[in-house]
Amino acid sequence: MEERMVTGELQNEDASVELSLRPANLHQYIGQQKVKENLSIFIQAAKMREEALDHVLLYGPPGLGKTTLASIIANEMGVQFRSTSGPAIERSGDLAAILSSLEPGDVLFIDEIHRLPRSVEEILYPAMEDFFLDIVIGTGPSARSVRIDLPPFTLVGATTRAGLLSAPLRDRFGVLSRLDFYEPDELCEIVERTADIFATTITPEASVEVARRSRGTPRIANRLLKRIRDISQVKGEQEISLATTDEALHMLQVDDQGLDHIDHKLLKGIIDGFQGGPVGLDTIAATIGEEAQTIEDVYEPYLLQTGFIQRTPRGRVVTQRAYQHLGMRKEDG
Ligand SMILES: Nc1ncnc2c1ncn2[C@@H]1O[C@H](COP(=O)(O)OP(=O)(O)O)[C@@H](O)[C@H]1O
Ligand SMILES: [Mg+2]
Repeated sequence: MEERMVTGELQNEDASVELSLRPANLHQYIGQQKVKENLSIFIQAAKMREEALDHVLLYGPPGLGKTTLASIIANEMGVQFRSTSGPAIERSGDLAAILSSLEPGDVLFIDEIHRLPRSVEEILYPAMEDFFLDIVIGTGPSARSVRIDLPPFTLVGATTRAGLLSAPLRDRFGVLSRLDFYEPDELCEIVERTADIFATTITPEASVEVARRSRGTPRIANRLLKRIRDISQVKGEQEISLATTDEALHMLQVDDQGLDHIDHKLLKGIIDGFQGGPVGLDTIAATIGEEAQTIEDVYEPYLLQTGFIQRTPRGRVVTQRAYQHLGMRKEDG
């Protein structure tokens, strides 16, 4: 797959850096104030009662800090963090093996939990509700069901959209937290924190610029900063300047609103092919050669949030703001 500068999705080059940038506790986790306040109370209460924390579902676009928050929850609870993902658990036996190896109170993080196979999901219900597993051993007339008791644990699930989860699974989470795009001042703080960890300095104007062009997404802000730092260093700058930031973002084809060529392709696809819409998601996907699900989960949320497109009952519509941004005019009729 093509590496994209401003996607919130994890790219190969992020993986090594991200661990070092990951905040370790709620205090270091910038923004998402409401989510943090709620979690902080639930965590304190669970600790006072010496119980496992309720199951937590974190949802929101990629790169906003779901995995980070899950590991923070384990740190704050003072328990082990075990991590897996929906697609990695193929059979119910895989899940049974993980669950029966947990210590009391542990956090089991399941990323992309909407991709759990149905059969696995079903054995998760009693595990979440009453901490036991019903496993069927053997087949045919000799098949029998064995009950395995589990230690109380906390399941933290992450998904790009809560709506992708089946209702029975969603209902078993006591805490549902939606992560939103970050405000520019919060992203600025993240950029400055990252610069510190990189042992570089960035001017306030430059960090505002990075924040503004990072689609409200910490992962993108960190990735852009890393590239800008390279260019600044090669130029021999003492601190990362606004001019270098502009130049680097131009080189990386990130426009002044943080949109890249795929966003442009999407907007222009709707404008050129469908007079600006409305047009259905599947039609857009076919036109620009991207998967509908990816458009909906990764590209579109920010375009909707910033008002470049709108969703109507008859499909997506490009707004006047997008026409202006692209330097195009909406034709009548
Ligand atoms: N609130 C935050 N404060 C500081 N850094 C953050 C925050 N949220 C995310 N990050 C940074 O962004 C990166 C991506 O976050 P991650 O938790 O992997 O996102 P997600 O799981 O939602 O895709 C992390 O490595 C972390 O450094
Ligand atoms: Mg993640």
